[in-house]
Amino acid sequence: MLTKQYITELKRKGNGDISALISSQRNVGSINFILESLGHLPEDFNPDFLYELLHHSHSQIRLNAVKNIGKLNGKGDTRSLFNLYKNETDTSVRREIVSSISRQRKPANKQMLVDFLQDEDPKIVCQAIRGLLVFEKDNEVEKSLRSLVNHPNEMVRTILYKEYFSKENKSKNILPHTQIYDFLKNVVVNADVLAALKFVPDESVHLTFTSPPYYNARDYSIYPSYQVYLEFLEKVFIETHRITKEGRFLIVNTSPIIIPRISRAHSSKRYAIPFDLHPYLVKNGWEFIDDIVWLKPEASVKNRIGGFMQHRKPLGYKPNSVTEYLMVYRKSTEKLLDWNIRSYGYETVKKSKVIDGYETTNVWKIDPCFDKVHSAVFPAELCKRVIQYYSYKGDLVFDPFGGSGTVGKTAKSLDRLFFLTEKENKYFEYMKSKTKNKNLFDDVKIQFLTLEQFKKQANK
Ligand SMILES: C[S@@+](CC[C@H](N)C(=O)[O-])C[C@H]1O[C@@H](n2cnc3c(N)ncnc32)[C@H](O)[C@@H]1O
Repeated sequence: MLTKQYITELKRKGNGDISALISSQRNVGSINFILESLGHLPEDFNPDFLYELLHHSHSQIRLNAVKNIGKLNGKGDTRSLFNLYKNETDTSVRREIVSSISRQRKPANKQMLVDFLQDEDPKIVCQAIRGLLVFEKDNEVEKSLRSLVNHPNEMVRTILYKEYFSKENKSKNILPHTQIYDFLKNVVVNADVLAALKFVPDESVHLTFTSPPYYNARDYSIYPSYQVYLEFLEKVFIETHRITKEGRFLIVNTSPIIIPRISRAHSSKRYAIPFDLHPYLVKNGWEFIDDIVWLKPEASVKNRIGGFMQHRKPLGYKPNSVTEYLMVYRKSTEKLLDWNIRSYGYETVKKSKVIDGYETTNVWKIDPCFDKVHSAVFPAELCKRVIQYYSYKGDLVFDPFGGSGTVGKTAKSLDRLFFLTEKENKYFEYMKSKTKNKNLFDDVKIQFLTLEQFKKQANK
């Protein structure tokens, strides 16, 4: 009977016996069993029968033959593998061939690996990239890898960035992960966010939580068109990406909005802001992580269903909008979250642990908050959850659209630091006035700066 032990013994004696054993088998399953049981191949192993099996009509046998040839420690005949690759139609066999050739790390295989880069199967291209990294100092190899920068497949682009280009960026002068520039600590700048961010170095903030202007649905924002609005937000989040520390989070609170009709002869228009903004974010290096739905009580939102309740005519259905989105993104990185967490000391991790009672689903039921001066403030509870779940004590939390300063106040109460920008003088003054009454930021030293003052501080 065929057993693994028997095959191991035969292998030790010399592989003439293995080859004879395979020839004597009548069914595919037994041949595969032998090939899969071979394990480590000794130095003096004669692989001739494996090359014969490359022509077998059964793809699993060809696959196992390729796998074993791949174990020959650089002594395998890669030409035969390459010839098989050219005519092979089975995806698994093709991938295994590329993997076997890549693992051999032989300069003689370089051209084959470069040829694999043209394959239509993204997994083969990724495998070939990995194989070529051994020769990354080689000009020809470098040229071939660089030519893939705009490869249509996202997996290929990620591998290329992770394995190859990210090494080029390592020389940048970046603060250690947990540290923060002093001039950004507990600062509110009265300026357009894009103007202020010009003075903020790369990789400065740990978390951004923000609610951007709602296109032209509120009085504080007038954009010439929806496209201009989206492109403005794109710029803000490109800059936010630049100033965000490696692998850290951006949480954007938006919802579809409605621009009321100008007369009874026109209809109102809905804009799906979270969905329209999403492609701009992922395109610019923000990896999508989660969608959290903020659910409000029905009584707290504008009544849209009233008309329908009267007429009940299909097509005229307009549900009350009781939700907003918190779209969660992470700055794309090759590092795992563990790397971020390990940057912190034991004490910080312990102190930052989220206590019992945390939200377990992506639907957060929270009452909205109304403010006498600002028309769209975050409820403190919403801020609290985001800051607790997505940052550590001592981190710097950024809000490019500061408004009434809820992110700053909450960050402070949770032992984080904050950096806010707010364009409108009236809201900036409002935040300032709240500090005077000591109810916004308690007694922490906060700086309220004009753009000029901020610029000076940044250049010190
Ligand atoms: C939706 S509100 C944010 C409210 C804030 N989350 C709070 O809890 O108070 C958006 C804010 O962004 C501000 N804003 C709009 N355009 C801006 C820009 N280009 N730079 C900085 N702030 C801006 C608006 O004045 C408004 O206060």
